Amino acid sequence: MARSAILEDTFGRAVTNLRMSLTQRCNLKCIYCHSEGEKAPGSELSAEEIGEILTTAANLGIRHVKFTGGEPMLRDDLADIIRLVPGTMKCSMTTNATLLADAADELKEAGLDRVNVSLDSLDPDKYRQIAGKSLLSDVIEGIHAAVAAGLTPVKLNMVLIEGVNETEIPRFLEFVRNNRDLVLQVIELMEFNDCKLHGDVDKLEKEIARSARTIITRRMHHRKKYCLNGAEVEVVRPLHNTEFCAYCTRLRVTSDGKLKPCLLRADNLVDVRGKKGKELEQLFFEAVRRRAPFFH
Ligand code: 5AD
Repeated sequence: MARSAILEDTFGRAVTNLRMSLTQRCNLKCIYCHSEGEKAPGSELSAEEIGEILTTAANLGIRHVKFTGGEPMLRDDLADIIRLVPGTMKCSMTTNATLLADAADELKEAGLDRVNVSLDSLDPDKYRQIAGKSLLSDVIEGIHAAVAAGLTPVKLNMVLIEGVNETEIPRFLEFVRNNRDLVLQVIELMEFNDCKLHGDVDKLEKEIARSARTIITRRMHHRKKYCLNGAEVEVVRPLHNTEFCAYCTRLRVTSDGKLKPCLLRADNLVDVRGKKGKELEQLFFEAVRRRAPFFH
């Protein structure tokens, strides 16, 4: 049993993870992107404001922060922000890796533990079709640099898109096979804007489960981790998945400083901009009070 958490919602879910958007700006235009559930871009939090939120989160027992965007690497002060992460917290980032090759060492030195890389295709034409730019080779370089810098395990986020990348699973498995530093994460597409290309993740997971040698259930969202022939694979299925919600440990922070209890809702945000100390702590408790499983 985990020891009881300071932040626990009315459904008994401990909040131990923060997912923090640093900007809504992005240098890609992925056809499916949900922009972390943010709508109109507000003004971005400063590094100092981010530091304040992280310190309070750490005091309240949050042990992990993941920086996201938009594309977090578009922030010039990213390394400074990482240096503000309290020592009790692990720190990771989700990035498209187009700018990672030259920055991996510096970010590791600043205290970044690991990265997730958004990569939906290993085919240059398809990559451009999905992401809007021909930057696949930069991404691959970024992944190698991340591994070399020790930002590991590097998880490859592949959103399954019907009729676009569904046939690429074997190619992805080959890419991560026999490399302990790489993990494939196949993610179910959530239909946010006009992208209605929901790939069949259910079928895929069944196939993977059949050929897996070992299966481990992770705490985060109760996801399963499969090992097939030296390739490590996780399948992320957030939609209509009561388990996903029941085991959710995360609170989001929008790029303009609002605590967001659930990706799929925009009506229960808690504005913490400019708040400090005890007042900020109380707002964390308020956001946690507003947490409820979206699928139940
Ligand atoms: N459905 C599923 N995952 C998405 N992501 C972004 N938009 C969507 C969506 N519509 C995920 C991708 C990306 C991360 C930043 O967010 O996995 O890597």
